[in-house]
Amino acid sequence: MNRSISELRKFVSPEIVFGAGCRHRVGHFVSVFGATKVLIVSDPGVQAAGWVADIEASLQEQGISYHLFTEVSPNPRVEEVMHGAEIYKMHNCTAIVAVGGGSPMDCAKAIGIVAAHGRSILEFEGVDTIRLPSPPLILIPTTAGTSADVSQFVIISNQQQRMKFSIVSKAVVPDVSLIDPETTLTMDPFLAACTGIDALVHAIEAFVSIGSGPLTDHHALEAMRLISGNLIEMIANPSDIVLREQIMLGSMQAGLAFSNAILGAVHAMSHSLGGYLDLPHGQCNAALIEHVVAFNYHSAPERFNIIAQTFGIDCRGLTPEQIRQRLIDFLIAFKQAVGFHDSLSVYGVSPSDIPFLSQHAMGDPCILTNPRSSNQRDMEVVYGEAL
Ligand SMILES: [Fe+2]
Repeated sequence: MNRSISELRKFVSPEIVFGAGCRHRVGHFVSVFGATKVLIVSDPGVQAAGWVADIEASLQEQGISYHLFTEVSPNPRVEEVMHGAEIYKMHNCTAIVAVGGGSPMDCAKAIGIVAAHGRSILEFEGVDTIRLPSPPLILIPTTAGTSADVSQFVIISNQQQRMKFSIVSKAVVPDVSLIDPETTLTMDPFLAACTGIDALVHAIEAFVSIGSGPLTDHHALEAMRLISGNLIEMIANPSDIVLREQIMLGSMQAGLAFSNAILGAVHAMSHSLGGYLDLPHGQCNAALIEHVVAFNYHSAPERFNIIAQTFGIDCRGLTPEQIRQRLIDFLIAFKQAVGFHDSLSVYGVSPSDIPFLSQHAMGDPCILTNPRSSNQRDMEVVYGEAL
């Protein structure tokens, strides 16, 4: 029995409504805030899939007017945030609803920050930089992985600097998250794999983070169980709503864990990589995960052993080195089973890019909670192994 006393920990979460069809209740939740004009943030693909129309119908039912901003890129950009905030002001909006994956949701959070402060989003990089409350924010995820709908994170791409930057604050946790597994039915297999791997990495990094603790551990472990047990089957059976729900639940659990325990080197390196090459976030994580686990393992062997057992690896009688290798083998096999076979060099990363990537990874807030303290040279080695 562990007789040591826990360190101080906090836990923040939005009001969460989970279940098939809950997106149709968005009008009700907007009316609770007394908002009269809503900015709906989304992207062209989500709009084409019909999810924006469902939100419009629900707002119309409640007699709430709205304006659409559906021009968000796959990695949302500073210019899009600033443009969205201008539209918010121009149309006298009083609340924001985002429907989509991580990109529209992050963009919506950032629009809220700019609308409240009247300054460039570039000024809010870092931890706890937000001083004024954002407008009421309701998020409706259409992917099962990023968990921007429950998290304290905003990730924005600065195209001029070729980097992504993070904003971490409880001020960006939305007021309401409507998590509706039906919206993930339109994800193609590649997007389902990218977001599913992202969610699995959230759970792993949250569980070994130096910010982990009793408030987040059970969410992280349940996420690992749900995602490792259902993702491959879900991608093979895309119309199975029960499997969609299991993965959506796993993603939400991972989101609650990482939002509060924060992440680690995979995400620090992945943010740097995604900003440099504009690659899908999940694809970056998939290319890095086993290399970071190999790097981190001996800094938290008991925690990684629990992860291995959660994945169904029989650790009895094995040495720590054998467990480390089994865990790495499992992660490689799992990501290959959902379609990720390539290393960073295939995505266009060359050895000469590594110093730049490593420097930016060291500046990312996620590196601060990695279980093994790291320097730029460490990052260069891990990027090199992932080439
Ligand atoms: Fe992520």
